[in-house]
Amino acid sequence: MQKSNVILDCDPGQDDAVAILLALASPEEINLLGITTVAGNVPLELTQSNARRICELAGRRDVRVFAGASRPLMRDLVTAEWIHGKTGLDGSDLPEPTMPLQEEHAVNFIVQTCLEAEDNSITICPIGPMTNVALAMMQAPQIIPKIKQVVCMGGAIKEFGNTTPAAEFNIYVDPQAAKVVLNSGVDFVMMPLDVTHKALVTPERLQRFKDLNSPVGDVCGGMLDYFNRFDMSRYGFDGGPLHDPCVIAYLIDSDIFKGREVHLDIETSSELTMGQTLADWWNIMEREPNAFVCDDLDHERFFQLLTERLGRL
Ligand code: RIB
Ligand code: CA
Repeated sequence: MQKSNVILDCDPGQDDAVAILLALASPEEINLLGITTVAGNVPLELTQSNARRICELAGRRDVRVFAGASRPLMRDLVTAEWIHGKTGLDGSDLPEPTMPLQEEHAVNFIVQTCLEAEDNSITICPIGPMTNVALAMMQAPQIIPKIKQVVCMGGAIKEFGNTTPAAEFNIYVDPQAAKVVLNSGVDFVMMPLDVTHKALVTPERLQRFKDLNSPVGDVCGGMLDYFNRFDMSRYGFDGGPLHDPCVIAYLIDSDIFKGREVHLDIETSSELTMGQTLADWWNIMEREPNAFVCDDLDHERFFQLLTERLGRL
């Protein structure tokens, strides 16, 4: 299987943190070119610092972490401390990072990395608002042929939204950016709430992380204990949905996931349904598909993979 050359664009966030760890634990499948950070769950100064905290937890001070956009393209920033806590990594107590933040802006890193790459060779994984990726495409549209795939966490198709009844958080925060990326014509793969709400960290799965008896297992256990509580109380789930690691697991073993090619569009006009991801699931309008949207996964295989890989760190 060919390795994916990955730029992971994130807003850590406990679930982003687990996605970073999964990527770092999977060098056979993932060549992590860099981590770009964006304002989302918490403001940018925290997301860039949290990304470095997690790399240091994994013993990977060599990973290049970049700071990107501190706000969405058009709208005011909406954050989610009500879910992630004030630090964005509540449930853990990681020290201030000492590894350096890269000087280069995240958007320039995305542009330069793509410009220097072969066609169809870069996989960009946005697991927060897509502001950085949209800015890179707007600044240098010539990078688009260099992008093999965009595999993102975001959206809600048959599920209701989690930020408004119509919209999931990543798309709601920057719907214009998501639309720029979707309409760029790249090979677009989306992991919406329809699949991530089936990736539940049940108490038994949480215990498996803690039973790793490692700093990584302990931190994941503490973070997810905290992160789980909101969705479990809102939806009555028997565990919290583990959104962002689904993107990395897809790159490692796409057979874990199911979905279909559909025509997808994103609401950017109506305040009532701002950020809604509308998939023509039954091809009623008979338009060309422009996205592969996942709606199911083998959750036991997902957690077996995740637990095994975290055990390597
Ligand atoms: O709606 C879930 C998404 O929003 C996840 O990426 C989570 O980290 C937050 O960014
Ligand atoms: Ca995220």
